[in-house]
Amino acid sequence: MTNVILCGGSGTRLWPISRENLPKQFLKFIDNKSLFQLTLKRNSEYSKDFLIVSNENQYFIALDQLEEMGFSDSKFIIEPVGRNTAASIAFAAFSVDKDEILFITPSDHLIENDENYKKAIENAKKCAKDGYIVTFGVVPNSPKTGYGYIKAISCKDLICDVESFKEKPDIKTAKKYIEDGNYYWNSGMFMFKAEVYLNELKKYAPDIYEASKKAYENAKKGEFVRIKKDDMLEIRDESIDYAVMEHSKIIKMIKSNIKWQDVGDFDALYEVLPKDENGNTKNDKLLALNSKNNLVFGRYKKQIVINDINDLIIVDTPTALLVTKRGDAQKVKEIVKILKEKN
Ligand code: GDD
Ligand code: MG
Repeated sequence: MTNVILCGGSGTRLWPISRENLPKQFLKFIDNKSLFQLTLKRNSEYSKDFLIVSNENQYFIALDQLEEMGFSDSKFIIEPVGRNTAASIAFAAFSVDKDEILFITPSDHLIENDENYKKAIENAKKCAKDGYIVTFGVVPNSPKTGYGYIKAISCKDLICDVESFKEKPDIKTAKKYIEDGNYYWNSGMFMFKAEVYLNELKKYAPDIYEASKKAYENAKKGEFVRIKKDDMLEIRDESIDYAVMEHSKIIKMIKSNIKWQDVGDFDALYEVLPKDENGNTKNDKLLALNSKNNLVFGRYKKQIVINDINDLIIVDTPTALLVTKRGDAQKVKEIVKILKEKN
């Protein structure tokens, strides 16, 4: 089994700490390790063969962080520009034997490597060997619109058939799904044989299949595989979720009772960071007076004082300072867009 780690995203909802050249998956938030490194650590128990698909801007940082974890001999596929996950996964599938099982994982999630995670991977492997596209469903706790929703039917133990898959529904639909009770969040991890994915991609998104195949065949192959920019730009920008998961009839979902967090925005980051007795995120340089439940992030030698404020997000970096409210962290993506238009 090969663990394909996707790390080409730029994570704009965590601006200004996450940037194109240093996206969130490489920031060392927890135990002085990045989410990318925690992914390597967790999954190395199940596969030591890592295949990293990353953007060229992130190659050196990924390489450094692999080295720190003792996995410097991992394979790389480098994209000069991102064309989303349908193509990235196709490159990975073209690069291995057709029967190789690929365990596709994002690099920006926090997951506990417990018995349930192990069980989910074992069950997924069984289904992948039988020729299914496997996804890992987690029990939703709110009608979030940033996730895929899987309708699971006929579950036998933890393995379910899938009636439908809907990527990023609108809020009204998401609420209906939550009320229905048979829907799970797509965790963003997948498992399948390389050939099974490529066949499904060819069936439901033939243009992406053909353009990715051509790009992979044309790619420079040496120490790493490097896709050419012109070929990359020919590929439609689409995620696996829209291109394959919404259409495939051979999906199995593993009910995954795992401790899973997509650290997608500051609200999610607040949940996972260590906090003091007043609910302020821990920071040696912070003096918090009569203040509660704030996320204060500044890794520099500056003294930070907050007084009489609650529920704020304060993020200080050498080039930008962000102050906004907790609970509204999705908005940061819009802020980045506005800034890009202005500059
Ligand atoms: N190499 C590469 N190239 N990686 C990419 C690219 C790309 O062009 N685009 C995204 N990625 C990486 C991201 O870095 C991340 O690790 C992973 O692929 C998933 O992409 P996201 O952009 O974070 O997807 P999402 O969060 O909107 O949605 C996915 O994850 C959700 C769970 O977190 C979907 O699978 C949803 O269905 C799912 O619920
Ligand atoms: Mg994500």
